Amino acid sequence: MPEKMSTMHIRPLTSLLFERYQRDGFLLLPPDFLSSGVLQDAIALMPEILRSDDPSRVLERDNATVRSVYGLHRTYPQVHAITRHPLLLGAVEQLVGGGVYVHQSKINFKAPFSGDQWEWHQDFVYWLQNDGIPKPDLVNASIFLDEVTEFNGPLTFIPGSHRRGVLSGKLADGMPAGYEDAPAWVSTLTAEEKFNVDTSVIDDLARTNGLVSPKGPAGSVLLFHPNLLHASAPNLSPFRRTVLILVYNSVANTSGGVANPRPPFLADPDVRALRPLVPTATEGMPR
Ligand code: SIN
Ligand code: MN
Repeated sequence: MPEKMSTMHIRPLTSLLFERYQRDGFLLLPPDFLSSGVLQDAIALMPEILRSDDPSRVLERDNATVRSVYGLHRTYPQVHAITRHPLLLGAVEQLVGGGVYVHQSKINFKAPFSGDQWEWHQDFVYWLQNDGIPKPDLVNASIFLDEVTEFNGPLTFIPGSHRRGVLSGKLADGMPAGYEDAPAWVSTLTAEEKFNVDTSVIDDLARTNGLVSPKGPAGSVLLFHPNLLHASAPNLSPFRRTVLILVYNSVANTSGGVANPRPPFLADPDVRALRPLVPTATEGMPR
């Protein structure tokens, strides 16, 4: 993507889409929202990302399959460029009401047959408790790098649950099975959630609001609120379900500091507002 700075920020979401996000806590945008070049950039990086044998890579409970790799916007200029895509950045700025930076990024691979679950949880409680982010003024942007179907482990949401704030639940003690020797922060990234929402709360909300699993072709963008209650089933299908998740935070909502900060690949200390990449005369729009 050609580099040219701008302070011009686009507002791509119509008021209908904006209000739908406020009501439901998520928004699924079709693949033509971002152009196919963005997708190709991320897909081309995947073999290299999968090989990155360092602490930012988390394995599944089988200790063999790659579950996630974190901090990609810090490691790969191509991913940093995606975080500054004018339409994506503009949409997120609209939703949080101002400038943003990327607090965390990750690829969740959900490998064929062995890609594991995420139990029911809300995301914000992790960023509050582990990173000291004071308010839920963050947006998850999940870019589908594969088609997401009912078979390969889509996210499941309870629409509108974000409006209930941080829900009651329990903090699991110790390290999950299979990760006994891993650093403490790994316990927040595995198939067993560290902060469990009470099942009676999930039961009540699901009966009232229902369940949805947004699905779509590769290139779709799923925006969701950090207090939206969600879970993600294992991938028992032969088809990979890879998503790139960019966690944007408002620059007015940075951490006041915590006693034991997590590594930068989980909680980025660079909180400068992102500026959109804009078209150049010779190269056209960001691909
Ligand atoms: C998933 O990749 O399906 C899970 C992501 C999340 O729980 O935030
Ligand atoms: Mn989550």
